[in-house]
Amino acid sequence: MKLWRRIFYKKRKFYDDDFDWSNYTADSYQRRLEGDVETSYRAVSRAGQLRFDAAKGTVLSDGVPIHPNQQLILEAVGRLGPASVHEVGCGGGDHISTVAGLFPEVRVSGGDRGKTQLALALRRHPGLKDRLGLQDITMPYSHRWPEAELVYSQAVIMHIHTAVSHFVALSNMVRQASKYVLLMENHECHNFVADLQMLADGGHLSWDSLHIHRFDGSTGARAVLLSREPLDLPVLTSDFDLREGRSPSFRRLKRADEDSARAITGFRRP
Ligand SMILES: C[S@@+](CC[C@H](N)C(=O)[O-])C[C@H]1O[C@@H](n2cnc3c(N)ncnc32)[C@H](O)[C@@H]1O
Repeated sequence: MKLWRRIFYKKRKFYDDDFDWSNYTADSYQRRLEGDVETSYRAVSRAGQLRFDAAKGTVLSDGVPIHPNQQLILEAVGRLGPASVHEVGCGGGDHISTVAGLFPEVRVSGGDRGKTQLALALRRHPGLKDRLGLQDITMPYSHRWPEAELVYSQAVIMHIHTAVSHFVALSNMVRQASKYVLLMENHECHNFVADLQMLADGGHLSWDSLHIHRFDGSTGARAVLLSREPLDLPVLTSDFDLREGRSPSFRRLKRADEDSARAITGFRRP
């Protein structure tokens, strides 16, 4: 490689996560939450403002709409009916707190690698006290992480690009979940389907079988839903299927391919 290309290559942030998580709350997150999400959507719903319609499998909001991604997460919980739900990278806690409010019978928990994010979550949702903990999902698996039937992330794994960290995160999420993993992520940022298939083929997932489905929310959001048992949902066999109808950014796809290419697995099942 030519010298100037090598210098430019090393300067790229592609081997780093998208943010410096140590100052993320003040630098980016709180501003985005207040200036972006909360100007168009109701981020925090009070009792009675949301209702789950079990016949249609949809969530209805009184007045102001909720964000399509939050809508999808709530609809997934309502339709799958897990006894327990854990959010990885729960940030300010709005999603997991809304899950708890709409489905009071579900045991909820949330983890995040940011102390300031967890502090913000407790300020916004004092009811989450004793349900949150520090968790870096790219660390070796901890037996103290709360297990749950459904483990989900929203806008977390898409930002993780350091070395093979996102593979570790996916593997850990599957191990933490007894039934389902929901990835409410930007699906251009990683080759989620191919990476998960590779993890399964290489024996990196604790489940004995893996079914990869597409899950659509009623207001346009799309997610990947992993389950141990086949579900009556569209099956994803490629990232192409997952990105259908979208116009992915070339730059993101290139980075996703570079991230995928760093994985090494072996000892495949004969
Ligand atoms: C874009 S924010 C999303 C927060 C929240 N899920 C939401 O939608 O409001 C990304 C969050 O992921 C957390 N995060 C990043 N890397 C993580 C990791 N390795 N383990 C756990 N949390 C992580 C960050 O601290 C931050 O709270």
